[in-house]
Amino acid sequence: MAEEQEARLTAAGNEMSASFLAARKRSEETLRKLEENPGKFTMLTGDRPTGRLHLGHFFGSIKERVAMQNRGVNTNIIIADYQVITDRDTTEHIDDNVLNLVLDYMAAGIDPEKTMIFTHSAIPAENQLMLPFLSLVTEAELHRNPTVKSEMESSGHALTGLLLTYPVHQACDILFCKANVVPIGKDNLPHVEITRTIARRFNERYAKKHPIFPEPAAILSDAPEIPGLDGRKMSKSYGNSIMLGATAEETAKLIKKSPTDSERMITFDPEHRPQVAALLTTAGLVTGRDPQEIAEEIGNAGAGALKQYVTESVNGFLAPHRERRAKLAQDMDTIRDILHEGNRRANAIANETLDEVREAMGMRYDR
Ligand code: TRP
Repeated sequence: MAEEQEARLTAAGNEMSASFLAARKRSEETLRKLEENPGKFTMLTGDRPTGRLHLGHFFGSIKERVAMQNRGVNTNIIIADYQVITDRDTTEHIDDNVLNLVLDYMAAGIDPEKTMIFTHSAIPAENQLMLPFLSLVTEAELHRNPTVKSEMESSGHALTGLLLTYPVHQACDILFCKANVVPIGKDNLPHVEITRTIARRFNERYAKKHPIFPEPAAILSDAPEIPGLDGRKMSKSYGNSIMLGATAEETAKLIKKSPTDSERMITFDPEHRPQVAALLTTAGLVTGRDPQEIAEEIGNAGAGALKQYVTESVNGFLAPHRERRAKLAQDMDTIRDILHEGNRRANAIANETLDEVREAMGMRYDR
């Protein structure tokens, strides 16, 4: 019995890693093609407006988006406001969160002339794709999504209809603008997989001769995951992340109170000294240096000297971002206008795609 169970678990694990490896390979191949011919690619990715962006977001995703934009990829960023209510029951501060995302994108180098920035709730035709798309997946497939499962567990609530089906909604985000590259973290991979399935099934069922949707490739970031300052996963609830928009003083305070250990000699040992390693990793990222080398340099000077180095390097790195951000924040009307224009453009694209979908499904009775 135990053996049987173990065999099943191992099989599940292998299956998962096989599909992960396939996705990783596709990601690398797609990136190679993208470098050769960026103009052929449409990128869509996005964020939930649940708070401010931190250093982890910057190195894990924002930097890559800016690089794609500047390389000439057709870039699109969705602020996923409807995804906020998948696992929480309030939209408090959502307006503030949305506008602050736009500020951080732009301070980081996103140019709204090149990159379309928009929100779910303003694009009716995008949301309407949900209906035909839902018909293309089974309940069992939805229940199998590991990210949905863990989000349900950590929400502590019963599974809502939206939490179960939001991966299909994410397929609407990706497919309405016919994106073929989707930079994401590993946790979003199941959502891109279901998007590929939906695109394939839609084309097979309704658009065999002239397929409408591409099967998009997930682009998996190769940036190392940055630990929070205390060595745990970066999380707002742990208060262990460095916000891009925080002040230099707030950042200094946060680093100062981050826990270390009692050993004076600084060494880079993520397994046995996760807290010290987290500080070294953070300094390594913002300076482009090897954490090991930083550790050797600080050596016997101890945690105080390490923290001082981390504070100076982080604040130095973020100073230009914060300066641009503060300047942009002086004119929030312009930020609202940028969102308005992004939403206008996204609506035009979504209406066009929905018309194609209606056409393919024989649902255009009015012409
Ligand atoms: N689910 C993503 C997150 O975890 C946000 C998101 C919404 C997204 N729609 C998307 C990402 C489409 C990539 C593509 O934050």
